[in-house]
Amino acid sequence: MTSRVRVGIAGTGACMPSRVMTNHDFEKLVDTSDEWIQQRTGIKERRFVSENECTSDLCVVAAQRALEAAGMQASELDLVVTGTLTPDYLLPGVSCLVQDRIGAKNAGAFDCSAACTGFLTALSIGEAFVGSGRAKAVMVLGAESLSRFLDLNDRTSCIIFGDGAGAVVLRPWEECRTGEVLRTTLGADGSGYEFIHMKGGGAKTPPTAASVARGDHFIRMRGREVFRFAVTKMADLIVQMAEGHSYEEIGLIVPHQVNARIIESAMDRVGWPLDKVFINIDKYGNTSAATVPVALDEARRAGRLEPGKLVISVAFGAGLTWGGTLIRW
Ligand code: UT7
Repeated sequence: MTSRVRVGIAGTGACMPSRVMTNHDFEKLVDTSDEWIQQRTGIKERRFVSENECTSDLCVVAAQRALEAAGMQASELDLVVTGTLTPDYLLPGVSCLVQDRIGAKNAGAFDCSAACTGFLTALSIGEAFVGSGRAKAVMVLGAESLSRFLDLNDRTSCIIFGDGAGAVVLRPWEECRTGEVLRTTLGADGSGYEFIHMKGGGAKTPPTAASVARGDHFIRMRGREVFRFAVTKMADLIVQMAEGHSYEEIGLIVPHQVNARIIESAMDRVGWPLDKVFINIDKYGNTSAATVPVALDEARRAGRLEPGKLVISVAFGAGLTWGGTLIRW
């Protein structure tokens, strides 16, 4: 058996759309209030793509920024993998559009569908490729244009989500000496597939005038049930990722920005204070697969990823799916 290659995060990047949707904007659309949204979710505003913008546009900029941070050329990439539930098209994957537009002419490209766990799933795939020696450089993206699938008449779901994209470049740790991916985990419980669900648009309910009129293509969510699952799962994943390490070794926790109350309750369960948790949901809402890479990039640029310290990232979402990673920065 050949020895495993240590895998590092050589660079990060992100791209958020410029169109800001505040809670007050939602007060004009549904029966809600800025106070309710802030108290129940911690969200003040989120970003929505503009009419001529889509997931691939955000990905291209995020990927270029990650390459720049890594000091690499797109032609060096062997693979582009994107976690997304809102690709530009059902066919082909958004990764192919990105591969072409950034000039990654030597790279394979595919998407992975694991909803809010999409980025950590893609990271796990990229880590396996670099770790096994199959690839020398992988672009891993998490990106969404969720606003295209929100029912702006449904106050129980539309206020929580936003759009954005984040990216990391993986390469052998020996070549970048930063962000070593020490551990990854993935899990699923498909019996909960209806908790967060888009009924229409797939092969079971292809789009028809009737399905669109019924709003089958919108994201529907059983918020309270997801909330309960999310608190327990986030706490369990953090404990699992930290196993064998002391609290002092942990520099930062970068969780899926699902809902500030869920993050607070999970940290309470773990028994750790919130000051080691990176939170930016107030600015961007829940951007599904994009929350973790966007937060990682912001944390890096804010100087919150201390060399030598451990970083834990965890996420969960529709499927139900979940994932976690432990990184030594
Ligand atoms: O990324 C993974 C995917 N999503 C999630 O993980 C979401 C997880 N769930 C949540 O974040 C929360 O459940 C929500 C933010 C979606 C809802 O918060 P909640 O505290 O669980 O509210 P609730 O569903 O228990 O509803 C409480 C009340 C209800 O009214 P009644 O029945 O008590 O009269 C709702 O109709 O709040 C009402 N409500 C609202 N009121 C004002 C629900 N949405 C809104 C709203 N504005 N936007």
